[in-house]
Amino acid sequence: MENEEENIITLIMAAGKGTRMKSKKSKLVQKIYGKELVLRVAQLAEKIGSSEIIAVVGYLREQVEAVLEDRVKYAYQDELLGTGHAVMQAERYLKGKKGKVVILYGDVPLIRPDTLKNLINKSVTGKEYATVLTAIYENPTGYGRIIRDEGGNIKEIVEEKDASPEQKQIKEINSGIYCFDIEALVDAIHKITPNNAQGEYYLTDVIKIMNDQGLKTGAMIVEDNTEILGVNDRSQLELLTRVLRNRINNLHMRNGVTIEDVNTTYIYDDVIIGMDTVIHPNTTIKDDVVIGENCEIGPNAYIRESCRIADNVKIGNFVELKKTTVDSGTKVPHFIYLGDCEVGKNTNIGCGTITCNYDGINKNKTLIGDNCFIGSNVNLVAPVKVGNNSKIAARFNYYRRCSRKQFRNCS
Ligand code: UD1
Ligand code: MG
Repeated sequence: MENEEENIITLIMAAGKGTRMKSKKSKLVQKIYGKELVLRVAQLAEKIGSSEIIAVVGYLREQVEAVLEDRVKYAYQDELLGTGHAVMQAERYLKGKKGKVVILYGDVPLIRPDTLKNLINKSVTGKEYATVLTAIYENPTGYGRIIRDEGGNIKEIVEEKDASPEQKQIKEINSGIYCFDIEALVDAIHKITPNNAQGEYYLTDVIKIMNDQGLKTGAMIVEDNTEILGVNDRSQLELLTRVLRNRINNLHMRNGVTIEDVNTTYIYDDVIIGMDTVIHPNTTIKDDVVIGENCEIGPNAYIRESCRIADNVKIGNFVELKKTTVDSGTKVPHFIYLGDCEVGKNTNIGCGTITCNYDGINKNKTLIGDNCFIGSNVNLVAPVKVGNNSKIAARFNYYRRCSRKQFRNCS
């Protein structure tokens, strides 16, 4: 698969309203696993080697811009006059350029980079001026239908509202994801008219326009329909989170990690876990975490961003780690918070140990050496260093002589 020589520009449609979210926020900045939908799409565009990324923004565009910053260039669509109209707003970025332009939706974040690479590859090697990513849906209601000729070639796309009863029976739908020849698209968008049931400029009309000009077009059916799921409301946000959860959990299981309960294990993007590590239920592992081999994590563990856990480590129940490094053979078994902390090898952290890493102004570091024993209930007030082979006794809080009443007073 060689797209290297082809110039790829990606255009992200991000002007839509998303009223069904019932939110003061643009739906494009709603998050899945801590990352905004539109940022996921921009990162996808980066992964396929786009030379330029253009976002067409409109409604609540300042929120989208605050997330994407200068990762992308912006085109503005003030009135939502249709997907074809959205592309017209980005014309100045496309004009005079050669290569392919990939169209993505800012609210369709789970497409695999390989799917897009295959789409581009089909477009390049098949010399297609337009290649549409399609899907087979048991219930195609609401989507544009793919009309093919007797030879099986795509002829046109007909929107639900413009479709005849026979066309409505077609189960092959338009995902809205395409790869176009840049020059052919710039030429064709000027030929789109809003003469249709919705009075919109349909980008989909470009397929028929190109076919009428004798330009070859094509379609590729996506293998996994979950890739083209979009987000319109909170239930769909939950559905996509679940799809991503399963995808990530399956990846780790294929790599030799045991996950006891895939339904309650939440592993964010960019996590590396070594083989034979076991993840117990109700565990969350956030971005940028590396866990070694043969570790035991959870149940009810919360491993936050930027942690490094070596081999043969035990992280037990109700343990929270943040920006923490734990070296091999160390045990962090129960009710523990370690933040901004480095722990050496073969150390045991007692139940109830807390790093007091925040003094109200700054975050400070706690260093714990190799072969240490930290007794129960110890508060390590950072910045603090515990040398190798240290032993800290449990914090003594047993009020043996207290009566029931006094006990309440002195606790
Ligand atoms: C479009 C396709 C339809 C396809 C469907 C897949 C057209 C005419 N139809 O439907 O064939 O099955 O996507 O979901 O293209 N947007 C803008 N500006 C606009 C209009 C839309 O930026 O003026 C953005 C939306 O925010 C959204 C995307 O484009 O991200 C698709 O718009 P939407 O209205 O959801 O799709 P349809 O036009 O109904
Ligand atoms: Mg629409």
